[in-house]
Amino acid sequence: MNALEALQYRTSSPRLIDPEPTSDQLDHLFRSAVRAADHGLLRPWRFLIIRGQARSRLGDLLVAAARQEHPEISAAQADKLAAKPLRAPLIVVTVASPKQHPKVPEFEQTLSAAAATQNMINAAFALDLGVMWRTGSPAYQSVVMRGLGLEESEKIVGFLYLGNKTGPEKPRPDTSYSDLVSEWGQDG
Ligand SMILES: Cc1cc2nc3c(=O)[nH]c(=O)nc-3n(C[C@H](O)[C@H](O)[C@H](O)COP(=O)(O)O)c2cc1C
Repeated sequence: MNALEALQYRTSSPRLIDPEPTSDQLDHLFRSAVRAADHGLLRPWRFLIIRGQARSRLGDLLVAAARQEHPEISAAQADKLAAKPLRAPLIVVTVASPKQHPKVPEFEQTLSAAAATQNMINAAFALDLGVMWRTGSPAYQSVVMRGLGLEESEKIVGFLYLGNKTGPEKPRPDTSYSDLVSEWGQDG
């Protein structure tokens, strides 16, 4: 698949099965991530790989986060949450890890972390891997952030659920944009 086709027709894959991405495929993903636009070349991001039984430990954190907000959740709801990370054979967590810099505000560094994440999902699509960028309220809860070992200054940008695609193929996505683009400054 050429680069423009991957960029213009990328879709997410909510249903994923084994096998997990190979180390060669992960290498392509991370090499793509670190080519995100990055003001000051600060590399203000890092990545966690969660696979195998570590996914259940992430599930435990999701349950702990939910219990903190809603102590009344039932055992069935807790079981459902605990199983969420098992929806993919492997998860990559993008962590925005801002650096002190006199000219590059934290906002720009967070944008760069999102760009790194988008580079990974584009690369995954080009490799014919299934991928889905997910967050959900647990991504913003300290029990999850601390449980994953984040520093106070760090944030979760996304959980990339990765694996083999399954289920019906998504239709080719709509790439129309005319209502989003306008000329500026031609009237004066
Ligand atoms: C920061 C971010 C967080 C997201 N979190 C979720 C999520 O938790 N659950 C979900 O179903 N989709 C989430 N999405 C959207 C999906 O990744 C996906 O882009 C969307 O379903 C549209 O499908 P498409 O990528 O095939 O166009 C998120 C996207 C972004 C950028």
